[in-house]
Amino acid sequence: LVAPARAADLAGTHVVVSAGGTREPLDPVRFLGNRSSGRQGVALARAAAERGARVTLVAANVTHDVLARVGAGVTVVPVETGDELRAAVRAAAAEADVVVMAAAVADYRPASVADAKLKKTGDAPVVALVETTDILRELVTDPPRAGQTVVGFAAETGDAEGSVLEHARAKAVRKGADLLVVNPVGGGRGFGTTTNDVTVLDRAGDVVATAAGTKDEVAHVVWDAVLTRRHL
Ligand code: CTP
Ligand code: CA
Repeated sequence: LVAPARAADLAGTHVVVSAGGTREPLDPVRFLGNRSSGRQGVALARAAAERGARVTLVAANVTHDVLARVGAGVTVVPVETGDELRAAVRAAAAEADVVVMAAAVADYRPASVADAKLKKTGDAPVVALVETTDILRELVTDPPRAGQTVVGFAAETGDAEGSVLEHARAKAVRKGADLLVVNPVGGGRGFGTTTNDVTVLDRAGDVVATAAGTKDEVAHVVWDAVLTRRHL
């Protein structure tokens, strides 16, 4: 199967994509992390480059095999923690037209990081956590560049409080990003897989696109939605 040729409809555009999952250290050998592989973010970076964009990929702990798929013409900035990701995204975003926050950023990090390896003492420790900066929210409230389009991602499971879409609509309104790409997770969906199904919401929480397929196909639908928004 040969992929259909796409127009270079992102030519002249600089985009920043964050991908992967942050790691928040406890000590020199341990961290709090998450299961994000970075595949969807890498697919977004690749798709944007194929469509002519200048692309900066801020990659949080993305493995070499996943990163290898990014293709030519993408500048990769490797980071580990949420603070590093925040600094790298904001620096690149100062010249960007579009910022896509596909990375899974820790909501909390250990309040202190031990200089030396923590030893087993026989008493189970309680780890104090502090909240991290919400990088997406900060991109909306304090944009590094005026007029840029900000896109968030939300992995959601439904729960007793509401469905995936109900949680997502509330999050779209709360975050204030131009677009929020929602994907249902749990039960083997989303993390570590090569396929994805997503719903794209605008800042009012209204559905503007849906996509199901490979992460490459989903990536192109996200860029289509971004372009539609920028041309409004
Ligand atoms: N995000 C961020 N900085 C954080 C946490 C999240 O920039 N400290 C971004 C993610 O990159 C993603 C979006 O916010 O684009 C949504 O993340 P999510 O974890 O779904 O949202 P939260 O507001 O943290 O809500 P939840 O309680 O569901 O974790
Ligand atoms: Ca979160």
